[in-house]
Amino acid sequence: MEAVSLEGRRAWVTGAAGGIGAAICARLAEAGAEVVATDIAMSDALAELASRVPLVFKPFDLLVDVQLEACADDIERSGADILVNNAARFDMGSVLDADLDQYDRVFGLNVRAMYRVMQAAARGLVRRKREGSIINLASQAGRRGEALVAHYCASKAAVISYTQSAALALAPNGIRVNALAPGVVDTPMWDRVDALFARHENLEIGEKKREVAAANPMGRMGNPDDVARVALFLASDLARYVTGQTLNVDGGNVLS
Ligand SMILES: NC(=O)c1ccc[n+]([C@@H]2O[C@H](COP(=O)([O-])OP(=O)(O)OC[C@H]3O[C@@H](n4cnc5c(N)ncnc54)[C@H](O)[C@@H]3O)[C@@H](O)[C@H]2O)c1
Repeated sequence: MEAVSLEGRRAWVTGAAGGIGAAICARLAEAGAEVVATDIAMSDALAELASRVPLVFKPFDLLVDVQLEACADDIERSGADILVNNAARFDMGSVLDADLDQYDRVFGLNVRAMYRVMQAAARGLVRRKREGSIINLASQAGRRGEALVAHYCASKAAVISYTQSAALALAPNGIRVNALAPGVVDTPMWDRVDALFARHENLEIGEKKREVAAANPMGRMGNPDDVARVALFLASDLARYVTGQTLNVDGGNVLS
């Protein structure tokens, strides 16, 4: 059990109020990390967690440049031994209708802010000569394009590529950089995905969720803790020789 202890390490988690973010905060805090959780605003799930484990919440909207820079400065100055770059937004649209405003919002958070926060964590670690673990949330959507999901799929492919470049650049410093590629996980984001598919494909609310669960090799959608367990592994010394990888956490949806 000693190998999964994160005692003495500070972990920053973005998008921490959401489904997967809050579950990752819980796993890291329970393993002994000092967790700094950031999101636009606190959620009930995160407030409940903060009542049980030591957790600091810092509000930042990463699509607002001045707040993104304030967050990056804080991460670089205060230090993050572990960074979970988890904040993202989903939107729908094919090449015929996904406009550049949607591109700016999706890429602004999923790629631009993800990159800036990763850079800040890396600079802080290198300056302090500390080893660390950076975990970026990609997606099965980053493995191949989807007709109706042009910008989001492309943004997650970019996350995979930045993860690889950062891993190679930071390996000499003992900083590991990996990504997680969840499949379909039942969170507030998937409530939105389900509602968007209902509109685009003329389905009942909940129908898309039932469809993706039935199509999964393990016969169900993932839950946030399915992803958080693998984030804990990557954050810990159990994964000390793992870097540059994108791990599928998807019940077997993607075989790679
Ligand atoms: N749910 C899934 O099926 C699934 C699948 C693959 C990948 N992912 C990825 O996992 C991560 C977490 O997803 P989730 O399902 O928990 O989503 P979620 O919507 O529950 O959580 C996302 C969080 O990001 C925050 N956020 C949104 N805009 C922000 C901004 N401008 N600044 C700061 N924070 C902002 C939201 O407030 C929210 O709390 C994302 O990167 C997502 O792309 C999710």
